[in-house]
Amino acid sequence: MLRGLGRSPFGPRAPFGGSATPNPAESTSAAVESPLPGIPAPPPPPSPPQPARRSEPVKENDPAVEQYETLKRHIHIQLVDRLDMNRVSEMDPKSLRNEIRSIVEHLCDTENPLLNRNERQRLVNEILDETFGFGPLELLLKDDKIGDIMINGPKKIFIEKEGRIQKSEVVFRDSDHLLQIIDRIVSRVGRRVDETSPMVDARLPNGSRFNAIIPPLALDGPVVTIRLFGSHPLSKDDLLRFKAFTPEMLALMEGAMKARLNIVISGGTGSGKTTLLNTLSSFIQSDHRVITIEDAAELQLQQDHVVRLETRPANIEGRGAITATDLVKNALRMRPDRIIIGECRGAETLDMIQAMNTGHEGSMTTVHANTPRDALSRLETMISMAGLDLPIRALRAQFASAIDLILQASRLQGGPRKVTSISEVIGMEGDTIIMQEIFAFRQSGVDPNGRAFGEFISTGIRPTFMDRLEYSGYQLSPDIFRQRVLLKD
Ligand SMILES: Nc1ncnc2c1ncn2[C@@H]1O[C@H](COP(=O)(O)OP(=O)(O)OP(=O)(O)O)[C@@H](O)[C@H]1O
Ligand SMILES: [Mg+2]
Repeated sequence: MLRGLGRSPFGPRAPFGGSATPNPAESTSAAVESPLPGIPAPPPPPSPPQPARRSEPVKENDPAVEQYETLKRHIHIQLVDRLDMNRVSEMDPKSLRNEIRSIVEHLCDTENPLLNRNERQRLVNEILDETFGFGPLELLLKDDKIGDIMINGPKKIFIEKEGRIQKSEVVFRDSDHLLQIIDRIVSRVGRRVDETSPMVDARLPNGSRFNAIIPPLALDGPVVTIRLFGSHPLSKDDLLRFKAFTPEMLALMEGAMKARLNIVISGGTGSGKTTLLNTLSSFIQSDHRVITIEDAAELQLQQDHVVRLETRPANIEGRGAITATDLVKNALRMRPDRIIIGECRGAETLDMIQAMNTGHEGSMTTVHANTPRDALSRLETMISMAGLDLPIRALRAQFASAIDLILQASRLQGGPRKVTSISEVIGMEGDTIIMQEIFAFRQSGVDPNGRAFGEFISTGIRPTFMDRLEYSGYQLSPDIFRQRVLLKD
């Protein structure tokens, strides 16, 4: 009897690469030629035997695991023998999949009638995953609690699950197996990866971001980073439940969106900037024409009146690049009410600030920075690095009049992501931009599990833009600004 067979993984995440249809050009095995078009050959013998997945620690050379892998290979070979080739080429993908499922189920019963229901189901699914899907990765892709998948070579896979990074038990047979899966993923979106082009960055049909870098650039085997964006972005209610901010903070952010304040979201890598931007965009009036500009489109705005633009890298001869600056310039001719730049990285910053200052109130962007003050200096640096030689005081004066609010997103120790500061930009004093913090999260320590804790506070300062909220018909109780602790977490 086999043991250590996996959990039932099938959650509701949208299919990773669109519909899992067989691609005639695919082959799961480079080592063994498949006799069938569209049907991959059985995998080569693993050495040493290695389970693709397991739910409990399994020793190397565990006889049960070896027996399982042998059975799987054997069934794979039989499957290839049994398929009627004349029919395969004519069948539609769904019926082919069903046909293969029933053959494999039948083979399981004849080859090893002792398999219990779960074991049999797992074996069938693994063979289908290898044949039509992304092999061992399927298990991770279907788990909608996983946010990021980081593959450092075939045997070391790390996942971020519910905010924590952990090593996954999923492994690939070897580097070739991993390469085949990479190839299968990128070829579905019309990209390729090989020795002459060993880096690939792609956006997958379900919106996830996929990056692979392979040897010789990556020294220890192919490295893959997948950032999975759930098919449903986190809503404001999710974020409230996760204590990413308090209802008082949300009320202020909602008011700021409705009153068309210009907002910069600042934060480190993976701190939740894009998520916050997405969530806040739900407060944009439905008749506002919004133009979004991104390097790899990931915003999921819910409004009807949205125009999505994406920059384009230069081609292989170094020509044809379309930058964010080009797109901002063009967007200004498209009668936008608001412009959203996914992330300011360079020269587009100045165009963005000018757009904010010239009648496109309610515009937003994100920037990589660790504090609101730092966000302003990052924006300043981006403009000076782009060679735009403006006197620093004039530049700061532009920032001070363009930007109304800075939201700081942070990923705290142990994984929680929070809005750790909401600061208003109020003006200039001498050469310095003056800001005041309205809400903040103050970390007070780290619990025994290594997770940061602290409290959200209201600093007692009322923002100066309250009248703008009122003009736009948004009433905000002054009580939310009373100095106090709002929430402990
Ligand atoms: N408050 C939150 N609580 C839990 N998970 C969150 C929270 N905010 C964001 N996430 C998750 O964290 C991951 C990273 O979020 P997001 O892409 O918004 O970060 P980012 O700062 O834009 O990252 P990058 O620097 O790569 O642009 C996503 O999987 C997202 O679903
Ligand atoms: Mg982002």
